[in-house]
Amino acid sequence: MSTNIGKGHLPVLLREVLGLFGPSEGKTILDATFGGGGHTRALLDSGSTVSVVAIDCDPEAAERARAVSDSFPDRFRFYDLNFSDLDLIEEDKLDGVLFDYGVSSFHFDQPERGFSFRADAPADMRLNPRVGQTAAEFLETASREELIEAIKVFGEETSWRRIVDAILDARGTDLLHNTRSLAALISNTIPAPVRRRSKLNPATKTFQGVRIAVNRELEVIETALPKAFDLLAPDGVLAAISFHSLEDRIVKRYFRKLCGQPIDRMDSTPQQMRPVAARALTRKPITATPEEIAQNPRSRSAKLRAVRKLIGLT
Ligand SMILES: C[S@@+](CC[C@H](N)C(=O)[O-])C[C@H]1O[C@@H](n2cnc3c(N)ncnc32)[C@H](O)[C@@H]1O
Repeated sequence: MSTNIGKGHLPVLLREVLGLFGPSEGKTILDATFGGGGHTRALLDSGSTVSVVAIDCDPEAAERARAVSDSFPDRFRFYDLNFSDLDLIEEDKLDGVLFDYGVSSFHFDQPERGFSFRADAPADMRLNPRVGQTAAEFLETASREELIEAIKVFGEETSWRRIVDAILDARGTDLLHNTRSLAALISNTIPAPVRRRSKLNPATKTFQGVRIAVNRELEVIETALPKAFDLLAPDGVLAAISFHSLEDRIVKRYFRKLCGQPIDRMDSTPQQMRPVAARALTRKPITATPEEIAQNPRSRSAKLRAVRKLIGLT
């Protein structure tokens, strides 16, 4: 996904995010995915009275947050937390909440985290290495259905059947334990003509799907969005940047529901039964400009959606 090797993490759609939350003086914004702190720092710099509360479940993000705390001791607070638990933070009546889902360039840049097949390391892929199963453990123990969900659904890998079979066959050997041997196993299952047709490394989609499964990335988005909306003050803005169609689908459906719109074509709830809690700020998702994509290829698949909580709601 990321190609910013060695450059740190460039925040995506930064100008657009600042535009949605601004003017920012006196506001308190929750950055629920602190990462490298790019959005956080820009928000703190956007006004001398802006406060940012930030969350990240990766202990290395917590270390990076210390530098921000040193620069902004009175206006910045960090929680080492999964954003699915964001209702545990002390702050409420927030003026804005930002989600910028997924992994950061730091994850790919550090081979030992096991997200990248460019270097060899234990296949870990946990955003929070203190809890849960590693990717290797998942691959060794998941049911066939769970593997199919990860590789076919989350990874959108069309050769999923062969890959799932190869993984099941490789159980008990060491092949699933390290990024390089896992990537080679996947690559070897994909027929050469299919491999040649794609610019992507043959293991890219499977790695993405396994990462999403290991971190339960879709589940936590679903849990966190309503909690974030509840923490907003009236007139507050909830904004989410997604990189995967399944992430975007969850955001889109939840935002449509908040705005009293049918969540999809099958939704036949009568209009008078739809409470309206928010106003859409983005009718279509905001995407990166060609200039931003040229500077930061990771922004290519970014989609930013936002809603504003109606005044009169608590
Ligand atoms: C795309 S990066 C955010 C980058 C950040 N906006 C910046 O400008 O540097 C996503 C971050 O969210 C964190 N993250 C992903 N899922 C999370 C979750 N469920 N709870 C807490 N943090 C999460 C990851 O550890 C990662 O650091």
